Amino acid sequence: MKAARIGDYNATPVIEDVPTPDIGPGEVLVRVKASSLNPLDVKMQRGFMHAYFPVIFPYTLGTDLAGTIEHTGSNVTRWREGDEVVARLDPTSGGALAEFAVVKTEYLVRAPKTVSLEEAAGISTAAGTAWQALFEVADLKRGQSVLVHAGAGGVGSFAIQFARSVGARVIATASGAGIEIARRLGADQVIDYRSENFAVKVTDVDVVIDTIGGDTQQRSFNVLRSGGYLLATSAPPDEALAKAHNVAATFVFHASDGSRLEKIVEAIDTSVLKVLVDRKMSLLNFTNAFEHQASGRARGKIIVTPD
Ligand SMILES: NC(=O)c1ccc[n+]([C@@H]2O[C@H](COP(=O)([O-])OP(=O)(O)OC[C@H]3O[C@@H](n4cnc5c(N)ncnc54)[C@H](OP(=O)(O)O)[C@@H]3O)[C@@H](O)[C@H]2O)c1
Repeated sequence: MKAARIGDYNATPVIEDVPTPDIGPGEVLVRVKASSLNPLDVKMQRGFMHAYFPVIFPYTLGTDLAGTIEHTGSNVTRWREGDEVVARLDPTSGGALAEFAVVKTEYLVRAPKTVSLEEAAGISTAAGTAWQALFEVADLKRGQSVLVHAGAGGVGSFAIQFARSVGARVIATASGAGIEIARRLGADQVIDYRSENFAVKVTDVDVVIDTIGGDTQQRSFNVLRSGGYLLATSAPPDEALAKAHNVAATFVFHASDGSRLEKIVEAIDTSVLKVLVDRKMSLLNFTNAFEHQASGRARGKIIVTPD
């Protein structure tokens, strides 16, 4: 099978022909319909995540996939060959950017009915992070307000839709074509972060999802109400600033969780939420897909298909 692999940190990913992996008890082999890229894949390739997710080389990149079960291992009772599934693999093992992937059953969920299997590959990490932040850490409720940075990014595009689906008011930051995209996803107000300072246009929000860090994070403390919540996914929040503004601030570290993913798929089907797709590319054109992810300019998910 073909797989996108690196032989060392900072090595250029190459598409190699490798043996189709074997499965063990409690695992299934998934024929990958599509995978999606995340900033995490770039950080893994650069070795930035070594302390959290140490890998063995050669390493097959990718955590997010959707596909069809090809074989089931022993002790697998809930799943059958042909089932359409979505999964988020453990980053240490990787393996999603390939024609076949081994998946532990605890990371498997049925694919949503309202989005195509290809687009469903874009769900796992981005939606999982947005969900974990909004509902498990901040406990966002109807009537509250949330500022979502990078509303046209992977995490932001799901955060806008999840927050709206529970009746929260959403303000998003974006630029260029991303402004209209964020509006169409349901943001009540979109601020062009390149030409306007969001920190003077927004006040007293309950929650900020900070996917950017740095100066964006520092200014985000000013827009929160006393007792509000800053949820950072890119850089750990400054505790002294949080204290000075009388807000809670947490770094959200996303972890693969099949039961969360199940709730997400249900929410996508029930509320007819979208997977925002930046582009679809073939695994054979992986270098371009990877470079685009690394640029930080993707507007939604980059979907990679093995054919
Ligand atoms: N801690 C965790 O477990 C975890 C999990 C998931 C993601 N993350 C991190 O969260 C961050 C976002 O992830 P992602 O998947 O959403 O990334 P992404 O999809 O690559 O985000 C790209 C988007 O960011 C926007 N952007 C860039 N600079 C901006 C700024 N200053 N203000 C507002 N928007 C800006 C871009 O818009 P323009 O085109 O307008 O520039 C683009 O649409 C990454 O750093 C990622 O590593 C962490």
